[in-house]
Order: sequence, then structure tokens, then C-alpha cells
Amino acid sequence: MKKEQFVLPYFVYDNEDELKDQDAALLHLAHDAAQSAYAPYSRFKVGAAVRMANGETVTGCNIENAAYPSGLCAERVALFRAQAQFPGIAVESLAITATSTEIDISSPVAPCGACRQVMAEVESRYKQPIRILCQGAKGPIVAFDSVEILMPFTFDTLARE
Ligand code: THU
Repeated sequence: MKKEQFVLPYFVYDNEDELKDQDAALLHLAHDAAQSAYAPYSRFKVGAAVRMANGETVTGCNIENAAYPSGLCAERVALFRAQAQFPGIAVESLAITATSTEIDISSPVAPCGACRQVMAEVESRYKQPIRILCQGAKGPIVAFDSVEILMPFTFDTLARE
């Protein structure tokens, strides 16, 4: 038996001013996208924005449903939309933000497990790490250089081929 461990580095930025222009612009798109969320049940509006390797950007927001599980998270809306629109193009980065009329979201919002699983598949599909930026409605930003950092020990059947 041997003990092994992950070291999972991430970066914390105090605000947008510390980000490179491209990252700040993507985060801005995510904030805009959150305004389009349909979240009458949770009132938790999430915005996501994806930058593709060809420079195109694609956004998403959470869309809820009276039958709760039928709704979808912002990250998956953005990633599915991106892959449908640009099937051969890798995803370079993904920005995630959230806003709410009920609570103050001033710490970064991290993606749920199901979204991480989808992010992992996209990373695997294009064999290129995805940079992930997370922020609340305001406040600090955390950045991860790949999905692997957010979710190590990934379930990936294609990697076994
Ligand atoms: N939500 C997202 O859009 N992304 C996540 O990563 C976690 C949760 C949405 C789902 C639901 O509409 C609302 O936030 C509250 O859970």
C-alpha cells in the first residue's frame, strides 16, 4: 500500500483588474449572460461564457423547469451550445458567474459535479486544457488551468482506448 495525493493549484485574483484582457472580457460576457437566466424557482441566476480556439465566444445561462431535473445549468448550456455550433473547435476557457435577488454572492461560484463531468468530456474530446474562471456577482475570482485540477480522477472511458 502506498499513499498518494493530488496537489491542485489554483489562482486567486482580487478583482477583474488583475486579469488579462481576454479573461476579463469573458467574465464580463458571463455576467451579461446571467441576466438572461430563467430561474423562477431558485432565483439563483448563473451565467457562463466560453472562449473557443477560433476566438469565437458562446454564452449560456441556467434555464429551470417546473419539473426540476429538466432544467439545465449555465455551464452545460454554454458548453453544449459551443459544441453544437463549432463541433471541430476546442474550448479554451470558461467563465462562470452568478447573481441573485435574494442573497449576496460575493465569493466565487464553483461549478456543480455534473457540469464538471461535462467539462471533463470536452477537455478530453479536444485534448486541450480548459481554463476556468469563477466569480460571484462581484468579488474575487478563482482560476483553474484545467478541469483536471477541479476534478481529478475523472471518469473517462475514451482515455482507456
Ligand atoms: N446552477 C448552475 O447553473 N450551475 C452550477 O454549476 C450549479 C447550479 C443552477 C441550477 C439551478 O438553476 C440553480 O443554479 C440553483 O441550483
